[in-house]
Amino acid sequence: MSDLDGRIFWEKTKYQYLAISPQDLGRPQPPLELPVDPSATLIPLPDPAVMAKPPLDLWQAIKQRISVRNYAEQALTLEELSLLLWATQGVRRVSARPATLRTVPSAGARHAFETFLLINRVEGLPPGLYRYAAIEHALFAVDLAQDINARVTTACEDQSQVANSAVTFIWAAVIERMTWRYQVRGYRYILLDAGHVCQNLYLAAGGLNCGVCAIAAYDDDMLNQELRLDGVNQFVAYVASLGKRKI
Ligand SMILES: Cc1cc2nc3c(=O)[nH]c(=O)nc-3n(C[C@H](O)[C@H](O)[C@H](O)COP(=O)(O)O)c2cc1C
Repeated sequence: MSDLDGRIFWEKTKYQYLAISPQDLGRPQPPLELPVDPSATLIPLPDPAVMAKPPLDLWQAIKQRISVRNYAEQALTLEELSLLLWATQGVRRVSARPATLRTVPSAGARHAFETFLLINRVEGLPPGLYRYAAIEHALFAVDLAQDINARVTTACEDQSQVANSAVTFIWAAVIERMTWRYQVRGYRYILLDAGHVCQNLYLAAGGLNCGVCAIAAYDDDMLNQELRLDGVNQFVAYVASLGKRKI
């Protein structure tokens, strides 16, 4: 057997072994999103479907995309935040399977992310850590302690663009939503899915005169702890800071 044959055989064997998934065994699929804390007040976001959107030339947005780490003092409006959440994780519809169909692709439409937001400057929202309820297109506060910015920034290796951002997006994976179908390959798909999400943030931000910086240099344990994630079943996969661009 040649090296290539050997590799193909191994891949196939591995794939077939892994194909016996919880879904194949008839186990129920995990919920489409984490439960919303019943004691939390849901903050509805303006509906992107009826919102006027600033024009955005996609070719220009692709050409001009860069990572931006210094932001203006200007706050985001709630409408702008709503558009950015819609562009990154917005639910178009819940299909009969059921699965969520969103503005970004996801392996098998598993959509395993929950979006946390470190909000520093958004009109009408007290600074703090929030979670996005994607199906409801709403937010709720998770941690409004005064030092939450400092704690999340520390967990992000003290990168100043987190401290100075208007909003920092934190995408956490609920791995069971992916492994229910794909077993261990689900970990790969999480990372692939994350790229789509962050790229949409970069491009949509261009239309709102905002800049973005993707962030993967963070302390897993510290950041998971700040978000109250166990780091095994739920863990941060990717982070991106965002703010209004300096003219
Ligand atoms: C997966 C990934 C992780 C990154 N992590 C960081 C980071 O932790 N801190 C940072 O300042 N930039 C980070 N970046 C941004 C890169 O440094 C940046 O994309 C690269 O220097 C190219 O610059 P450009 O985005 O302006 O084209 C990251 C980018 C990617 C795609």
